[in-house]
Amino acid sequence: MKKPKELSSRTKAITPSGIRRLFDLAQKTSGVINFGIGEPDYDTPPFIGEAGKRAVDLGYTHYTPNAGFPELREAIAEKLRTENGIEVAADNVMVTTGATTGLLLSTLALVDPGDEVLIPDPGFVVYEAAVHIAGGRPVGVPLREEEDFRMLPERVNELVTPRTKCIFLNTPSNPTGTVLEFSDIKGIAEVAMDNGIYVISDEVYEKFVYDGAKHYSIASIPGMEELAITVNSFSKTFAMCGWRVGYVAASKRIVDEMIKLQQFTVANAPSISQMACLEGLRNPETKKFVEGMVMEYDRRRRFMVERLNKIPGFKAKMPRGAFYVFANARELGLRSADLAEFILREAAVATVPGSAFGPSGEGYLRFCYATSIKNIEEGLNRIERAVEKLVRKA
Ligand SMILES: Cc1ncc(COP(=O)(O)O)c(C=O)c1O
Repeated sequence: MKKPKELSSRTKAITPSGIRRLFDLAQKTSGVINFGIGEPDYDTPPFIGEAGKRAVDLGYTHYTPNAGFPELREAIAEKLRTENGIEVAADNVMVTTGATTGLLLSTLALVDPGDEVLIPDPGFVVYEAAVHIAGGRPVGVPLREEEDFRMLPERVNELVTPRTKCIFLNTPSNPTGTVLEFSDIKGIAEVAMDNGIYVISDEVYEKFVYDGAKHYSIASIPGMEELAITVNSFSKTFAMCGWRVGYVAASKRIVDEMIKLQQFTVANAPSISQMACLEGLRNPETKKFVEGMVMEYDRRRRFMVERLNKIPGFKAKMPRGAFYVFANARELGLRSADLAEFILREAAVATVPGSAFGPSGEGYLRFCYATSIKNIEEGLNRIERAVEKLVRKA
């Protein structure tokens, strides 16, 4: 038999996510406390779950239109108009299987081989992979702790070339928890408009803001109608990660292309989940649920940052959004991947090395505080004991 031919080169540039690797290791560790996963520890609110069950009984078990149920698209458009100030109608919205697919299909709709795409560094792992899948060239915009990890318009502008096609924007940010100021967003919009560059705006943590921070959508800025793609999800806000529903909103010119891509890839988001999300958008109880969850995460955020800063070798700034602390651990003198592995082995606590989010994340560890105060306390006590060994050795 002849040697099998090479597999496609498309996936060769993608390295398995650093987050996954740690997860696999964590799963083999008994009694592990997990600060690694990035999802709410809350279960989906029962009234949303019930709507899912009802959808089965009512026979919503067939394919849906590629872009999603019309009622759901309309409810999402209404939410974007009233909460985000984005002037869209139902046909500007496509329901996706989570923000992950929304990000990938957005990239595929915009990026040609050789195009440059600006991505936050450190930034969520999907951006770089999506650009590689599209054959584009990811260009990191280094975010600095001294600048609160903000993606500053001047830094973005410096990296724009004639090949730049789009910019990934993520506020509140995973992994840093940074919430961009309105002036940052406006400045980035100006860079985009001056150069005819698209912005894929990942807003999945929009509701997770603290200390009076406010979330702004770049698509609400006049002139961005043709350039902004808003990507969002029900995963985090409604505690529905497993239901796999998100959405994109953009000009019809872009959305219509994305619907074609969706038709030939995933076909449609799960019908039952779509009906559950519709209930989530319509039921006034959801607001109370989200507010309660965010209030609780605020408490955990403050607890985690205060406790982390008492551990020798760690310096953590108070993040104003999402549910992560991105702690500087440079003083400990290990590469972040080695430090995360050391902590997992010695303390049975899972964290994510900052380097998994890009080269500028080196020297940091990401801690997710979407877990109980009891776990946070126990996990950080364990880390303190383990790290003492490193400090003593130094
Ligand atoms: C910044 C960011 N965007 C998108 C996603 C993907 O969310 P979804 O479950 O909707 O695919 C995540 C998940 O961790 C995320 O952190």
